[in-house]
Amino acid sequence: MATNVVWHEGLVTRDARAKLLGQKGVTVWLSGLSGSGKSTVSVELEQQLFAKKVLSYRLDGDNIRQGLNKNLTFTPEDRKENIRRISEVAKLMCDIGVVVTTAFISPYTEDRDMAREIHKAADIPFIEVFVDCPLDVAESRDPKGLYKKARSGIIKNFTGIDAPYEKPPSPEITLDTSKLSISECAGVILTYLTEKGLISAEAKDEAKPAKAVEEPAAAPVAEAEKEKVPATA
Ligand SMILES: Nc1ncnc2c1ncn2[C@@H]1O[C@H](COP(=O)(O)OP(=O)(O)OP(=O)(O)O)[C@@H](O)[C@H]1O
Ligand SMILES: [Mg+2]
Repeated sequence: MATNVVWHEGLVTRDARAKLLGQKGVTVWLSGLSGSGKSTVSVELEQQLFAKKVLSYRLDGDNIRQGLNKNLTFTPEDRKENIRRISEVAKLMCDIGVVVTTAFISPYTEDRDMAREIHKAADIPFIEVFVDCPLDVAESRDPKGLYKKARSGIIKNFTGIDAPYEKPPSPEITLDTSKLSISECAGVILTYLTEKGLISAEAKDEAKPAKAVEEPAAAPVAEAEKEKVPATA
């Protein structure tokens, strides 16, 4: 932890930003085996939210590992750092007021709990979604051919094959993607967010126009100045 750093507070609050945007930040954390459907469900959810005029953004493991986290491997230490950075990025985006979906295998309970703690400390809602799918189904899908490579030993530390996946003990939502359709899975999350009041149930254009910050009180006018101001001003 850096020393001699002091948080510099701004003048526009998170609440003010929420009023401006007409929405609040929340992180929807998708966890599950490779091929379980995290990316697919998050893409569908993004579309369903967009149709409701809710701005969301996907943080996807494969995409983030090509940029921000390109220096990280799949060792437990690097997986932890991967999750820590994503949690921090998600927290910042939620602070803006964006609905964030994350699609990371995030196999370790301890790491997911760290993600939850980072959000809790910032008073940002965190919804853990266990994208549950039997290993044999995920392996038969093998959309990127990764299981094949892991089975033949080309890829090491592959979750479900030679690295563990610790099932979330108490996720807010569990989706069995071997039973529900892609659209149904996204729908379950959307319904949860709506019922918990985390996103607005009403269409945004029906809502009152948002105001960013309260208008400042009129500056006091000096007695001498008052006489110069016309009555109609
Ligand atoms: N109900 C479902 N939900 C999600 N995906 C499904 C479902 N039914 C079938 N699929 C298929 O399963 C595959 C899931 O692949 P996807 O890339 O989304 O997995 P992932 O969890 O993001 O894996 P990785 O961790 O490797 O990125 C896709 O080919 C998708 O079309
Ligand atoms: Mg994916």
